[in-house]
Amino acid sequence: MKEYTVAILGATGAVGTQMLACLEEQEFPVGKIKLLASARSAGKTLSFRGEEVVIEEATPAAFEGCDIVLGAADDAIAKQLLPAAVEAGATVVDNSHAFRMDPEVPLVIPEINADDVSWHKGIISNPNCATIIALVPTWPLHKVAGVKRMIVSTYQAASGAGAPGMAELEAQIAAMGREEAIPEPKAFAAQLVSNLIPQIGGFDDEGYTSEEMKLQNEGRKIMHLPELAVCCTCVRVPVLRSHSESVTLEFEGDITLEEAREALAGAPGVKLVDDRGAESAHDRFPMPIDTSDQDLIWVGRLRRDISNPEAARGITFWCCGDQIRKGAATNAVQIAKLLV
Ligand SMILES: NC(=O)c1ccc[n+]([C@@H]2O[C@H](COP(=O)([O-])OP(=O)(O)OC[C@H]3O[C@@H](n4cnc5c(N)ncnc54)[C@H](OP(=O)(O)O)[C@@H]3O)[C@@H](O)[C@H]2O)c1
Repeated sequence: MKEYTVAILGATGAVGTQMLACLEEQEFPVGKIKLLASARSAGKTLSFRGEEVVIEEATPAAFEGCDIVLGAADDAIAKQLLPAAVEAGATVVDNSHAFRMDPEVPLVIPEINADDVSWHKGIISNPNCATIIALVPTWPLHKVAGVKRMIVSTYQAASGAGAPGMAELEAQIAAMGREEAIPEPKAFAAQLVSNLIPQIGGFDDEGYTSEEMKLQNEGRKIMHLPELAVCCTCVRVPVLRSHSESVTLEFEGDITLEEAREALAGAPGVKLVDDRGAESAHDRFPMPIDTSDQDLIWVGRLRRDISNPEAARGITFWCCGDQIRKGAATNAVQIAKLLV
């Protein structure tokens, strides 16, 4: 089997370190791995398949000889460096927002629009994490009755803000345990422990945040539904890992609860955990504590939307998924597998 030279840009971050683990777990045919990060990390090492790999400073020249580059850095660094990777002949799968809405760049969730990979011109984007977690279970229901409107509230973990976000919540939890003053927040706008922060990203003129508009704009592109209507509220919650979302869908056609349950039970990437009678809460519905560090989107609390006047056309559910895995690294490695 052909083996590939694979680089990770941002290899030391929350997503980058998970990508390295996913390449190993998914047995991606890596011949050579290149780990790229800032000058601060150059010379340190990370382990891959039991061997220590030295991290290099990310520069345009570092992409020479790469077949595939997985991007796990922020928007500015992605824009600055990834065009050089394409010029060097690599195909890029990028996690940042930088190229997602570029009409020349496919935006892919393999369970939904794997075929879009075919028209890439060097860069393929990985969607926003909360968007992936909402759309993986929405897609099989869309195939039954055609979704036309989504009302979504997200409960997003601290690690969605990367390694610094996770470290900040851990430091706040530790300070609270020692009954010390909570350190001044840096990664988030306010203290997160014992709190909820209903703002992720900047506000637009309508009062929606950039994170909230990603679900509408990326959702339309991924599902090829340019008219999809979305109303989303994104909230940062004091959970370390795994996002949760409340999703209410309105459909063009009728869908029974049984049809919805059947579609979700057989859908790729989905695990149905929906048993109101179960003795343990862990078997009754998904919770982020159970969905961390695994690849499926767990769906539960499936019920009819009793506020929808057309009773057969509204479904509501709760879902949880690990946003560093399926919301980022796992999805990116799945895309890379489509390329080989
Ligand atoms: N966290 C999530 O749940 C999640 C989910 C989906 C998508 N994303 C997206 O994935 C990307 C990475 O997020 P993250 O959460 O992994 O962030 P992170 O933990 O803060 O990691 C950032 C990475 O970028 C590197 N970096 C910083 N400055 C650099 C420079 N000048 N040149 C090269 N590399 C540099 C860092 O290297 P050093 O260690 O050397 O500073 C680190 O490896 C972002 O675009 C984010 O929006 C994140």
